Amino acid sequence: MSSCFTYVGPSSIFQHLTTLVRDTQDWKPYYNFTVTEVPNEMVLKDPVLKKLHDFFPFKAGICLMDGFRVYNWHTDDKRKCSINMLLGHAGSFCLFKNSVESKEVVEPATMLDYQMGHYYLFNTQIPHMIYNDSGYRYLFTLEFLDEDVTYEKVLDNLTLYSI
Ligand SMILES: [Fe+2]
Repeated sequence: MSSCFTYVGPSSIFQHLTTLVRDTQDWKPYYNFTVTEVPNEMVLKDPVLKKLHDFFPFKAGICLMDGFRVYNWHTDDKRKCSINMLLGHAGSFCLFKNSVESKEVVEPATMLDYQMGHYYLFNTQIPHMIYNDSGYRYLFTLEFLDEDVTYEKVLDNLTLYSI
């Protein structure tokens, strides 16, 4: 089984994104979340995202999750991987199953302990779940335009070009 996530590095647009969260009125329902789009001109100011975008074009957004919610175990339908960054929360956690097939009642899991303001490559094909405690949780995330961009492809690219 490939890994669940890989640390990528710090963001240079963290402050821009938190300002966008504070100021935008443009929140829309999208799948099971409420999202706002992040304009490309903001995304491309960040050298990590710029290089990645050159190879694998994507659109970026911020997902808002309400407090006291669990997003149950799932794999994503529309994307095979993502780059995620936690922008703010009062307390939340994200877990991956250690075994894709497991249906045990008690089983091993791995936590992604997000360092706020830092990017992580996220393998959305490994079952994962999120619990958000009180308050909103804001997550920067993206969708590659080509739905076949895999975790391994992006990881190879990050390594090759030492992004
Ligand atoms: Fe997901």
